[in-house]
Amino acid sequence: MPLTALTDGELRAGRGLKWSRAPAGVIPADIAELDFALAPPIRAVLSSAVERSDVGYPDYTGGAPVRLAELFAERTRRRMGWSPEPARVEVCAQVVQALCCALLAFTRRGDEVLLHSPTYPPFLEAVRSLGRRPLLLPVRGAGVAQWAAVEGARRLRLVVLCHPHNPTGHVFGRAALERLAGLAVRSDAVVFADEIHAEIVYPGTEFHSIASVRAAAERTIVFTSAAKSFNIAGLRCAVGHFGGAELHARFRRLPWHLRSGAGALGIAATIAAWESCDDWLDQLREQLGTNRTRVTDFMSHFEQIRFVPPSGTYLAWLDLRATPAASDAHGYFAKTAMIFLQPGSVFGASLEGFVRMNFGTSEERLDSLLERFGRALDGSSGKG
Ligand SMILES: Cc1ncc(COP(=O)(O)O)c(C=O)c1O
Repeated sequence: MPLTALTDGELRAGRGLKWSRAPAGVIPADIAELDFALAPPIRAVLSSAVERSDVGYPDYTGGAPVRLAELFAERTRRRMGWSPEPARVEVCAQVVQALCCALLAFTRRGDEVLLHSPTYPPFLEAVRSLGRRPLLLPVRGAGVAQWAAVEGARRLRLVVLCHPHNPTGHVFGRAALERLAGLAVRSDAVVFADEIHAEIVYPGTEFHSIASVRAAAERTIVFTSAAKSFNIAGLRCAVGHFGGAELHARFRRLPWHLRSGAGALGIAATIAAWESCDDWLDQLREQLGTNRTRVTDFMSHFEQIRFVPPSGTYLAWLDLRATPAASDAHGYFAKTAMIFLQPGSVFGASLEGFVRMNFGTSEERLDSLLERFGRALDGSSGKG
């Protein structure tokens, strides 16, 4: 089952956000989409549904959504080392939708919500637009004072974990997860973990879900989807598990149309991904591992760049504050290098000297991207 890189022409002809907004000549590496063709079983199931006009309402009470919940439970047990209860699984359209629902179900206006900084922008937007207050903890190296502020929060009701973390690719160790779980217990807060990137973790790092931390298991919600690792974000299907019956019941009190919405094609594609595409995923991970090494080697030639290679995700978070790009890193590279990187400023205040680079592309395109990046900085291609 081959991993096939799409050509520039194919990508530009598509509707995906990443390429459709990039003018001719620009290499986009901002939006978190992959530049690879669909895994063949996913393509087959989608083509077959379209051929047969099989795009009616899914039967949420007994058909594919129930199969999906069972598959999620089985796959999680096999690959993630903890055991979801199929009866406590929910199928939604999007992971961020599930977070919005959790905010409505488990917090009130004015409550505090723990997020890690830098923060995946839709999390911040959801928390703020619903009138909750973000409480930020650095994703790595939080100090005593920062922890004390969080421990002392009076109205902490939700601990949100982006794990692996977007944009840094950080994977939390067991001790860090236990500390966060302990905080949730002491504060009587619910834990919401977005594990959408959990299948892209590199050799040398072991991924543990916070759902496997016993102390907070009953108050923990985990959501994931095939959107990132199988590149089907437009199909809208997300799956999650509620660690306790009461937690689940409170979520289910929200109107059904608010908390559901997965489409027939998204469900079918997710089942195909999780049932039949492990070989494809292995190849993708190998390619992304090669790309990650390439990015790491490349960045090591630039003393002014600070970069911690990601343990998971296909995203590189680059600290360019000591470079000529510091004041607006995104604008600098768009103008001088014809490459689009995700601006750091969208991940939090005072982060305009950072950018997020998506390296989920072919080796050839990654080489062009890095070459342009290096030239824009100091005329060097970074090859030393
Ligand atoms: C951490 C994280 N969560 C969620 C999403 C989007 O998923 P969804 O459309 O299911 O909300 C992304 C997309 O890049 C992501 O990186």
